[in-house]
Amino acid sequence: MTQPSRREVIATGPGTGADDGQPGSHRDVDPVASTGEERDEVGLRPRSLDEFVGQPQLTEHLRIVLEAARRRRQPADHLLFAGPPGLGKTSLAGIVAAEMGVGLRITTGPVLVRTGDLAAILTDLQEGDVLFIDEIHRTHRAVEEVLYSAMEDFKLDILIGKGPTARSLRLDLPHFTLVGATTRTGLVAGPLRDRFGFVGRLDHYDVDDLERIVLRSAGILEVTIDAGGARRIAERSRGTPRIANRLLRRVRDYAEVRADGTVTAEAAVEGLEVFGVDELGLDKVDRAILDALCRRFSGHPVGLTTLAQCVGEEPDTIEDAYEPYLLQQGLLLRTPRGRVAAPRAWAHLGLVPIEPSLR
Ligand SMILES: Nc1ncnc2c1ncn2[C@@H]1O[C@H](COP(=O)(O)OP(=O)(O)OP(=O)(O)O)[C@@H](O)[C@H]1O
Ligand SMILES: [Mg+2]
Repeated sequence: MTQPSRREVIATGPGTGADDGQPGSHRDVDPVASTGEERDEVGLRPRSLDEFVGQPQLTEHLRIVLEAARRRRQPADHLLFAGPPGLGKTSLAGIVAAEMGVGLRITTGPVLVRTGDLAAILTDLQEGDVLFIDEIHRTHRAVEEVLYSAMEDFKLDILIGKGPTARSLRLDLPHFTLVGATTRTGLVAGPLRDRFGFVGRLDHYDVDDLERIVLRSAGILEVTIDAGGARRIAERSRGTPRIANRLLRRVRDYAEVRADGTVTAEAAVEGLEVFGVDELGLDKVDRAILDALCRRFSGHPVGLTTLAQCVGEEPDTIEDAYEPYLLQQGLLLRTPRGRVAAPRAWAHLGLVPIEPSLR
């Protein structure tokens, strides 16, 4: 099993709360891991392909790509991971670096405001390093263009000065592997997408895989759990490992306070009910979405922005985080005129669908 990368640094852009506020500065803590739960999430991350549960096809392809690069003693090709939040994209970036035994630099598309922000990070890379750009579809256009030649030729084109005296300079960069993550492949510009040698799509996990993830996390968090407890949590995790881990922590709290601390099937079901997670794994926001579609709009199609306003969330959040699961579960339909509740949604809310002629 491969050890986690020793040299794991966070490269940030300006205004992200980095220590010195300089582009490309780094800290050895996860900048988003400010709460105990977020730190827990970092601790629960799989560190090698062997620890990464599920997604068999993707991991098999990745194994081949990485092994081939290792044999050629070259950095791996650039990799893009796409899929809904919480399915393991960031974890995979760390795994790529660990499996290759190289350093990992982490940044996010939207924080790279000026081309100089990216240039500072690129020129600071070491040969073979993995540069992880999260939310790569939100990278600014000008920054993205710098990325093109960096990815393709490992060259950095920079413009020095302004006006007639301006001249362009071409710098050599170390050979690095760019790992991009996106929740929306559709929004990654074609020229950028084409420069990735491999695009890995992450799908929602099945209940068996989620059960293995819950058991693995319970082991790390030292939670006593039985097979039934793990199963109930897995069934309510909406196909998402991050949610499985979150529900495990909530059920652990419940079991510690209201029972003897062991996560059994009974404790899991009761605990999740207390925290508002129903038998399909829907939470308050999911139910608010369905409720708005059925009750408030009486089954009429509703635009995304209106729906988002109704439930107090951002349209992007609805589209990235909530809708995929509701669609997959056959609870919601996307029509050219807007979102519509499917018959299963009415049944789930205990409502009788309104006849179109009566709406
Ligand atoms: N295949 C897996 N096996 C075990 N645990 C996993 C797996 N995938 C994800 N996890 C767990 O889920 C958590 C969230 O994963 P990760 O942060 O990699 O998702 P992400 O796709 O980057 O999400 P986002 O789009 O929100 O950035 C991790 O901390 C890890 O514990
Ligand atoms: Mg991530």
